[in-house]
Amino acid sequence: MALTLRSRKPRAAAVPKPAAPAARGRFISFEGGEGAGKSTQVRRLGEKLRSLGFDVVMTREPGGSPGAEAVRHVLLSGAAKPLGPVTEAMLFAAARADHVGATIRPALERGAFVICDRFVDSTRVYQGALGNVDPRLIRALERVAVGPTMPDLTIVLDLPAEEGLRRASARSGAGADRFESEDVTFHRHLRDAFRELAEREPERCVLVDAAADADGVADTVWRLVETRLLQEAAARGGGG
Ligand SMILES: Nc1ncnc2c1ncn2[C@@H]1O[C@H](COP(=O)(O)OP(=O)(O)O)[C@@H](O)[C@H]1O
Ligand SMILES: [Mg+2]
Repeated sequence: MALTLRSRKPRAAAVPKPAAPAARGRFISFEGGEGAGKSTQVRRLGEKLRSLGFDVVMTREPGGSPGAEAVRHVLLSGAAKPLGPVTEAMLFAAARADHVGATIRPALERGAFVICDRFVDSTRVYQGALGNVDPRLIRALERVAVGPTMPDLTIVLDLPAEEGLRRASARSGAGADRFESEDVTFHRHLRDAFRELAEREPERCVLVDAAADADGVADTVWRLVETRLLQEAAARGGGG
C-alpha cells in the first residue's frame, strides 16, 4: 500500500503551502459552555462593528461554510457519538479546515472582522479535556485545519453550569443537541476546562463573567475589543 502511494505522482494538495501572509483583518472567537451567551454576544459585537462601518463576517462552528455545514448535522445530531471522541475530533477538524479555507481566511485577507461562535478551543475542551483525546492529536489536527489562522482574541464566557443549562433550556428552538444533553457534571467539567484554557493562554484568551445581563456582557466585550484590537491597530498606524 505504502509503495503504491509513493509511486504516485505527488498531488498539488500534498505539497505544503508556504505560511499564509499575516492576516490583515481581525479574528475573534467566542467560547464557553452551553447557554453562556456566545451566539448573543457574537451578534451584539458584529452589529456594533458594522454600525461603525467595519466589514464583519459572523460565523459559527461546527459549520460556517457549505462543506462544514454538511458535517455539522452529523456532529450535532449525535450520529458521530458512537464513533468515539477521536473520530468526532477528526470530523470537527475536517469541518474546520473547510470553514477556515472557504470562509475565515478569505475574509481576513480582505481585511474583515471575523467573529466566530466556537473555534479550536471547543475541540480542545470537549474532545481533549473531556473526551480524553490525546493532546498531541488535537494539536496535529489544529496544524492541518487551522495553521496560522488562529484568533487574535478569544473571549471565554464563564457561567456556572446550572445557569447556562437553564438559559439553554429556556431558549426557544429545537431540543437539546448532542452536547447540550450531557449531564450537569459534564457541564461543570466543561466550565473548569474552559477556565484553565483561558489561564494558560492569557495573550489570546480573556475570561469574561457571563452572569451579567446581555448588555453588561456586551459592554465588557466591547471594551476588550477596543483595547486589544482597535487601539492596537490605530497605534500601528493601520485601520485594522
Ligand atoms: N447575559 C445574559 N443574561 C441572561 N440571558 C441571556 C444572556 N445572554 C444570553 N441570554 C439568553 O440565554 C439563552 C442562551 O444564550 P445563547 O447566546 O444562545 O448562548 P450560547 O450560544 O452560548 O449557547 C438565549 O435565550 C439568550 O437570549
Ligand atoms: Mg449558541
